[in-house]
Amino acid sequence: MDNRAIGVFDSGLGGLTAAQELLGLLPYEHIIYLGDSYNMPYGEKPQDKIIEMSRRNLQFLLEKDVKAVFVACGTATSNALEILIKESPVPVFGVVEPAVREAVECTKNGNIGLLATKASVRAGTYEELIKKLAPEISVTAKACPKFATMVEDGIFDKDDIRVYEAVQEYLPPLKFANVDTIILGCTHYPLLSDVISEYMGGKVRLISAGAAAARSICSYLCKNGMTAEREFHKTEYYTTGDFARFAHTAQLMLKRDISSELIEIEPFDQTQNM
Ligand code: DGL
Repeated sequence: MDNRAIGVFDSGLGGLTAAQELLGLLPYEHIIYLGDSYNMPYGEKPQDKIIEMSRRNLQFLLEKDVKAVFVACGTATSNALEILIKESPVPVFGVVEPAVREAVECTKNGNIGLLATKASVRAGTYEELIKKLAPEISVTAKACPKFATMVEDGIFDKDDIRVYEAVQEYLPPLKFANVDTIILGCTHYPLLSDVISEYMGGKVRLISAGAAAARSICSYLCKNGMTAEREFHKTEYYTTGDFARFAHTAQLMLKRDISSELIEIEPFDQTQNM
């Protein structure tokens, strides 16, 4: 048993989808969530910035005495995970490897699609790992720069024309490649699952990177006797962005009001976006 909290971070609200999955599996855990909304989108930033921001996020969570850190962000995982693992005294988990393992197992026709941010596609981490595990599999990767900011702005209703138009803009190469499995490589994307599925004609399996990682973290904590006891369940949310905006979109996503558990904090470095 380890009753310390699990730290979770993302560039913004997307990681909430992953934190929810983890809580569904391990409902007794104390979760400390950090959304670095001030610096969102990470997907448009160069790798050195992503590393710097991810290090600060890790530091913030370590100062809260967490027992493990869940990098609930495909972009931070793709660009900074190895460094974070080296620098952290507690286990750090990313989303790439669990998602890739599930996708490789799931595909029947050997054609996998990857939807992710620009910085994740540029880093090539998902593709490299697929090639390493199963060289015969073909990967069609597409960066979707509008998706994460749309979700962050609360635009993810399946009947919203802007959502459909964005899906129409990014998905044709995956349809053309006849993929049967798509990795949602950014934790904001599960909010767009219905529209993506519908566009693909319902014939594809969507693997949410955050959900796959949650399953793998759950099994690690269980195997290593690191789960918490019942009375330790609680959630704390921190954002470096605007309180009201975070609370509003979080409510749309989670269908509950988190404002009593949410704290707005100063961005770690105000000059980062300059
Ligand atoms: N949710 C983040 C991810 O999983 C990315 C969003 C962003 O660009 O900041 O990649």
